[in-house]
Amino acid sequence: MAVIAQKCPHIKVTVVDMNAKLIAAWNTNSLPIYEPKLDEVVFEARGRNLFFSTDIDANLIAADIIFVCVNTPTKTHGIGAGSASNIKNVEACARNIARVCTTPKIIVEKSTVPVKTGEAIARIVASCGNGVAHSVLNNPEFLAEGTAIDDLWAPSRVLIGGSNDAAVEKLVSVYANWVPRERIITTNLWSSELSKLVANAVLAQRISSINSISALCEATHADVDEVARAVGMDYRIGKYFLKSSVGFGGSCFKKDILNLVYLCQSYGLHEVAEYWNQVVKINDYQMKRFANNMIKNMFNTITGKKICLLGFAFKKDTGDVRETAAAYVAKYLLEERASIAVYDAKVSADSMFEELKYTNGVDETTIPELKKLITISNTDVYAAATGAHALAVMTEWDEFKTLDYERIFGLMVKPAFIFDGRNILDHAKLRKIGFEVHAIGKVFEA
Ligand code: UGA
Repeated sequence: MAVIAQKCPHIKVTVVDMNAKLIAAWNTNSLPIYEPKLDEVVFEARGRNLFFSTDIDANLIAADIIFVCVNTPTKTHGIGAGSASNIKNVEACARNIARVCTTPKIIVEKSTVPVKTGEAIARIVASCGNGVAHSVLNNPEFLAEGTAIDDLWAPSRVLIGGSNDAAVEKLVSVYANWVPRERIITTNLWSSELSKLVANAVLAQRISSINSISALCEATHADVDEVARAVGMDYRIGKYFLKSSVGFGGSCFKKDILNLVYLCQSYGLHEVAEYWNQVVKINDYQMKRFANNMIKNMFNTITGKKICLLGFAFKKDTGDVRETAAAYVAKYLLEERASIAVYDAKVSADSMFEELKYTNGVDETTIPELKKLITISNTDVYAAATGAHALAVMTEWDEFKTLDYERIFGLMVKPAFIFDGRNILDHAKLRKIGFEVHAIGKVFEA
């Protein structure tokens, strides 16, 4: 919404939320999320044609186009628990719009929704509204965190699904203020909803494919980066999203694939469901394999050993920790009662503990010594590494490439191990300093 406001000064954009604390934060100079370049965009448009408010009803009534951007988390109970998305927030928005609006609105599903949610919204607004004919469009978001603003400024494509041509054209005309027309594609509602899930599933599939091969590379004399490079140079395949890692994370991939799996299952397409489920399974395997590798190489025991995790965010340039591989790895290490020192400049201790608890079931009931076993720092990586038996790179933050590894080596217990879960460090140089280095998809060199 901030980018729409920035690029279209003639359009008034108001962001509304029930959460007063969040809205208040968006009205200050310290925005509630970290995203490169977001500050400059918000500061440019805020107060001009970008507003943040808790007055939901009045702003719904005043709007021509309403974007529904609520979260649709994976269900934790009931039918489809563990894979289906919970669309109760979407439904609540639809009911709110129907209740207060007496003029026709264009309702845009922006949240990632299971296919056919548009139909549900359309039925709700038609049956419990004020007799007005609203139109429902789907406009999925393809931005990636960390590059969100660049992605929005120059999107690979904008996808708009819907059957009301006038409404579609109106939304097209908003994006056309800065996106070339040929990059704005229109489809029917269901194609658009499904395309979003499929785009994420295919991206995640590439990572799981290369990660599955990383295990084979470690067992043979192949190098996963060399394989990815050779494979990716075939222009039909392409070089992107073939970087082997400790596993993909983030709020989207796992959730959207499970959503797709659930959809296939509900249509009785069990083989198709299982095919996509394997993408998630390989990711779980990769995270577990990484932790197991650490344990095996550290003489089969890490109990009481200090391990320093470099990074906790699910990727660089974001403070987001949802579904981060780091939390899974931390859980496996904590189960062995290792002590863990996490260093990440952009992640708060609160959000780390929350992620450990909600996604991974790690709290003081499952790991009684938790608070003693885990320490967290945003500022001092050298303190975090002091007395550690191992460093494990969890996030590919650029700063990890240029740390003073001679100094770190001096601070660690020997033999000093490095497990590079992102293959970003200079392994030869580290070996020269004296580290025992293990990387993803590479044969171990003593
Ligand atoms: C993803 C998609 O890339 C976006 O297009 C989509 O709009 C978004 O989900 C969404 O549905 O909202 P995001 O989750 O922000 O974006 O991050 P990605 O850059 O896709 O990274 C996801 C995970 O895959 C990260 O943990 C990353 O480190 C990992 N990854 C990515 C790899 O392990 N290897 C790669 O080669 C690329």
